[in-house]
Amino acid sequence: MTDGSMSSKPGPGGLADTLGMSADEMRRLGYRVVDMVVEHLAQRGNEPAIQTGDFTELMGELGGPVPENPGNADAALDLLVKVALANQQHGDHPRFMARVPGPSSFAAILGDWLGTGYNTIASSWIGASGPTTVELVVIDWLRQLLGLPSGTEGILMSGGAMASFTALSLARTTYGNGAAYISDQTHYTVKRNLLQLGFAEEHIRVLPTDDAFRMPIPALAAAVTKDRASGLRPVVAVASAGTVNTGAVDDLEAISRTCKQHDMWFHIDGAYGAPAAISSKGRQRMAGLDKADSLSLDPHKWLFQPYEVGVTLVTRPGSLEKAYAMSAEYLTDVEAKDKVNFRSRSLELTRRSRALKMWLSLRVYGAARMRQAIEQGMALAEKAEALLRQYPDVWEIVSPAQLGIVCFAARGAGDKEHAARAAELAKSGYAAVGTTLLRGRTVFRMCMINPLTKEEDIRGTLARLAG
Ligand SMILES: Cc1ncc(COP(=O)(O)O)c(C=O)c1O
Repeated sequence: MTDGSMSSKPGPGGLADTLGMSADEMRRLGYRVVDMVVEHLAQRGNEPAIQTGDFTELMGELGGPVPENPGNADAALDLLVKVALANQQHGDHPRFMARVPGPSSFAAILGDWLGTGYNTIASSWIGASGPTTVELVVIDWLRQLLGLPSGTEGILMSGGAMASFTALSLARTTYGNGAAYISDQTHYTVKRNLLQLGFAEEHIRVLPTDDAFRMPIPALAAAVTKDRASGLRPVVAVASAGTVNTGAVDDLEAISRTCKQHDMWFHIDGAYGAPAAISSKGRQRMAGLDKADSLSLDPHKWLFQPYEVGVTLVTRPGSLEKAYAMSAEYLTDVEAKDKVNFRSRSLELTRRSRALKMWLSLRVYGAARMRQAIEQGMALAEKAEALLRQYPDVWEIVSPAQLGIVCFAARGAGDKEHAARAAELAKSGYAAVGTTLLRGRTVFRMCMINPLTKEEDIRGTLARLAG
C-alpha cells in the first residue's frame, strides 16, 4: 500500500511491523523520513534559527481526541514536521549562537536511528554484548583523546546534568556527607545534584570567582581549611572546564592539589568545554584535566552528536560498580559477573545505546575532522571578538573569546535593552544570540561551535544586534 494508510500484510520476508505495517510501507515511510531530515538539514540556513509557536494554535493542530482508528501516516508525518518540529530551536542552524548550539552530524544521527531500529537495550553483557563492547570502545577512545589515565572507566548518560550526578554520587559514597565547593560560575545543575545527593545547602560553598570568572584558589584553600577546623568533612570540589557563561576554565592543577592535600574527591564539569581538549589548543587551556577523579562532558554539545549523550568518566576503577551494582531475581540470566553490565554503573536500568552514534561518527569522520571543527569554533569566536573590538564606541567586551564563547555589551544599553534586542533578533528568524547575567549585568553571549557558521554570519548578526 502506498496511500499512507495501514496494512496488516507482512512483507516478503514474513514478519514485518509489530502493529501490522507492511514491509513495503515501512520502507516507503522510512525513506520519506530520511528525505525530510536531509531536506531540513540542507535548508538550515534558510529557516528560522528558532521559532516559538502559539500554544492554542499548536494544540489546535496537534491535539484533539485520542485517535482510536488508523490514520494516514503521510499526513501525520507532515503535521509533525510542519507544525511540531518547525516550532523549536534549531541548535544546528549556522546562526544559532544562543545558549549551547547542538551542531549534530549526520553519521551520528544514523547511529542513533540504528539503535532505535534494533531497539537496543544496553543494560547487561548477555543482553547487549555487542553494544556494550561499542560503549567500552567509545569510553576508551574518549579517554585517549582527552589524555586521561589508562584504567579510566565510564558510562554514557543522557547529558551533562545526569553525567555529573553520577560522578558526584561517587564522592558521596566514597567520603560520606560534608562540604562541597563550587564557584558562582559553576553550572546550576551541579548544585541541584549536590542538594539531591543530600548535601546541605549551608554546606555548599559557592566561591565568588576572580576577574576572569575562575574559581579563586586561595579562597578555596581557606574555605576547606576552615571547614576542616570546624569539624566538617570537605568532600568534593567541582571545577569547570569551560563554564557555560564565558567558557572560562578553572585552574585544574591547583584545585587538584587542594583535593589531594585534603583527601577530597575532585570532579571536573567539562560538559561544555572538555570536548575541546581533543584539540591541542583546547588541551593547552586544560592542564590538569587528567588529575580529575571524575569528569563529565557532553558529546551532544561539542562532539557533534544529536541529543542525548553525556559521559561520566571516572579515574578510580571500580567506583561506579561499587556504588551502582544491582541485580534482581529475573535479571540473573543476563548477568555476566566477569563483564561490564552497564545497568550497574548508574541509576538507569533500561537504557538505550548512546555509544552507537559516537562510535559511528568517529569511524566515519575520524577524530582529526572533529578536532579541526572544534578549532574552527574557537577561531571564529576570536574573529567575533576582533570584529567587536573594531567598534569600541558601539561594543564593550565583557569576557573575551574563550572556547568558542564571547560575551559583550552594547554601549549605553541597559539590561532590558539587551534582552529586547536578543528577543527581536530571534523573532526575526535570522539568528539566535543569547543573553546572560555577568556580575549582575545582562550582556550578550555568543557561542560559536557550529562548523557551518561563517564570518559573514557573525557580521550579519552583529549588524542586526547593533540596533
Ligand atoms: C558547564 C555545563 N554543565 C552542565 C550542563 C548540563 O548539561 P545537560 O544540559 O546536557 O544536562 C551544561 C549545559 O549547558 C553545561 O554547560
